[in-house]
Amino acid sequence: MASLNINGETRNVAVPDDMPLLWVLRDVMGMTGTKFGCGIAQCGACTVQVDGVATRSCVLPVAAVQGRRITTIEAVGATPAGRKIQNAWQSLDVVQCGYCQSGQVVAAAALLTANPNPTDADIDAAMAGNICRCGTYVRIRAAIKQAANEG
Ligand code: FES
Ligand code: FES
Repeated sequence: MASLNINGETRNVAVPDDMPLLWVLRDVMGMTGTKFGCGIAQCGACTVQVDGVATRSCVLPVAAVQGRRITTIEAVGATPAGRKIQNAWQSLDVVQCGYCQSGQVVAAAALLTANPNPTDADIDAAMAGNICRCGTYVRIRAAIKQAANEG
């Protein structure tokens, strides 16, 4: 049994301690906004925030996040940085196929929370682990800058 704080709600789930958080979110809770890409912490599709920090949920045992604050794509827009990021994403039409974008948005929101005025180098460093097969990287960087300029 795990007791999880997900998007501000406490959720109790009967799962093995070593089940990855991504499996719990998608298969047990039906929260399918967070995506499965590689399953080995290499693509970023599964990114969630744990205590505000971008974290790969595909390799994160659920026991490791008990009592920690988990924010997923379903609720990241309720945070100030997440709202700015989602607005900028829409205004610049960042998304192409969309598959990587939950992870991109969650990672970008974590960056903006930690660093409200990121440089290009800061953005590249923070977003380097989030792969986009459609190559939306230029728009992602522009959107993060637009969100930062929103103040
Ligand atoms: S699915 Fe987790 S990093 Fe690729
Ligand atoms: S928008 Fe298609 S993989 Fe990123």
